[in-house]
Amino acid sequence: MLRSTLVEATQAGAAEIMRFFQQSFTVSNKEGVNNLVTEADHASEKAILSVIKRDFPAHQILAEESGALSQNSEFKWVIDPIDGTVNFAQGIPLNCVSIGIEHKGDIVMAAVYNPHLNEFFFAEKGKGATLNDKPIHVSQKSVTLHSCLVTGFPYTYINEPNGPLEVFERFVRKGVPVRRLGSAAIDLCWVACGRFDGFFEQKLEPWDSAAGFLIVEEAGGRVTDFKGDAFSIYQHKVLATNGLIHAEMLDVINARKEL
Ligand code: IPD
Ligand code: CA
Ligand code: CA
Repeated sequence: MLRSTLVEATQAGAAEIMRFFQQSFTVSNKEGVNNLVTEADHASEKAILSVIKRDFPAHQILAEESGALSQNSEFKWVIDPIDGTVNFAQGIPLNCVSIGIEHKGDIVMAAVYNPHLNEFFFAEKGKGATLNDKPIHVSQKSVTLHSCLVTGFPYTYINEPNGPLEVFERFVRKGVPVRRLGSAAIDLCWVACGRFDGFFEQKLEPWDSAAGFLIVEEAGGRVTDFKGDAFSIYQHKVLATNGLIHAEMLDVINARKEL
């Protein structure tokens, strides 16, 4: 039941994305100059929540637009109704619904669906990851210099040593291709299926990373913070790789090594 509810909720959110995509919709601003929320974000979240609350009314919820519903349950649904809202608002078909289910503090099931490409990523802890029901695996690249990376930048820049632009510059100066797609959940899933070899970002929120984190791990990849410690969705720095380039990327991120 958990799985079928997750799939139905994800699809219900995605149907709202498609209903509004490239149509007219209202847009307002959150904290930060271009941190948008659209009518479609609210509609997607509402559709998702109605499916979850119908099947699991006692479960906890952490949803980007409506916040936390704390209840006495071991389960928590961590929801991003549209990851890639700026892309959505621009009519760029790189955005998705992202939902991770936490049980006793661990993410145990996850779904990310980009309806524009009809790509449904799913993972269950200990049971592997799939794209449209076919198993996926991370890449085999073992050298960062020959890898293709992806990153994202926060709405409000973090001006500190080893900040987002400094780290980005270190890889780019060496000639490593680094993409910036605008949806952290898609970035993570594209590491999971081997399109990218590594992803790093410095200011993610739980709903950005909850689903993609499990999907990368279940596809055989590694996800940590920038110290190389176990990743928690409640801290902001994420490094997700195929595992093989992880240590080298950590050294470059922390300025301990040049490529
Ligand atoms: C954003 C996207 C983007 C990342 C930002 C996130 P939103 O989420 O994942 O790729 O760089 O840090 O906030 O606002 O589109 O849900
Ligand atoms: Ca997001
Ligand atoms: Ca969002």
